[in-house]
Amino acid sequence: MWVCSLACHGSFNLDEETRRSWYNPEAVLQDLHAGMVFMDIGCGDGFFSILAAKKVGQSGKVYAVDVDTQAIEKLIREAKAQGLTNITAKVAAAEETVFCKACADCILYSMVLHDFGDPAKVLKNARDMVKPSGVLVDLDWKKEGMPFGPNEKIRFSEAEASGLLQGAGFQIDSIKDAGAYHYVIIAKPTVP
Ligand SMILES: C[S@@+](CC[C@H](N)C(=O)[O-])C[C@H]1O[C@@H](n2cnc3c(N)ncnc32)[C@H](O)[C@@H]1O
Repeated sequence: MWVCSLACHGSFNLDEETRRSWYNPEAVLQDLHAGMVFMDIGCGDGFFSILAAKKVGQSGKVYAVDVDTQAIEKLIREAKAQGLTNITAKVAAAEETVFCKACADCILYSMVLHDFGDPAKVLKNARDMVKPSGVLVDLDWKKEGMPFGPNEKIRFSEAEASGLLQGAGFQIDSIKDAGAYHYVIIAKPTVP
């Protein structure tokens, strides 16, 4: 089921079957390994946070943030139900969130970059949080007309998203399709 308010800010409810019909979530996290630090920014109810927590294991750590209190509460309940103790989840704006500096191996934005009020500020925070060896993963909707998903007008094309990433101090490593409706950009911090 896809449920989204008009501009796709806030209200969000996506079941796993629908998500998996669009793209392979494991492929999005393919470079995530045990012991790594993963961040899920604008995490919603934490579909990727839960997946990542299992991949990074007890020696790793997941940080998740969203402005939606109910979504974070759902994530915390699910983590508890699955016995996952390596997730720190908080209700906050991504624009105001720096979990730790130069500490993240992987920072994910899943279908969310276009939702932030100030994406440049959010990405500046990512630049502060990512390790020199870390990566940023931007999974988002292709800027095309579709019978579902956010309004085409608010979507970022691959070129627009790449420009924002470069402006925040990242270099583009790859841009690939993730199924028919989404793209995934992998970016690495630019060496100063
Ligand atoms: C389309 S949903 C994507 C959720 C999640 N990334 C996923 O793939 O399931 C967008 C999410 O961004 C959150 N959001 C919007 N603006 C935000 C902000 N400024 N800071 C943090 N989260 C925000 C919303 O509350 C919502 O949960």
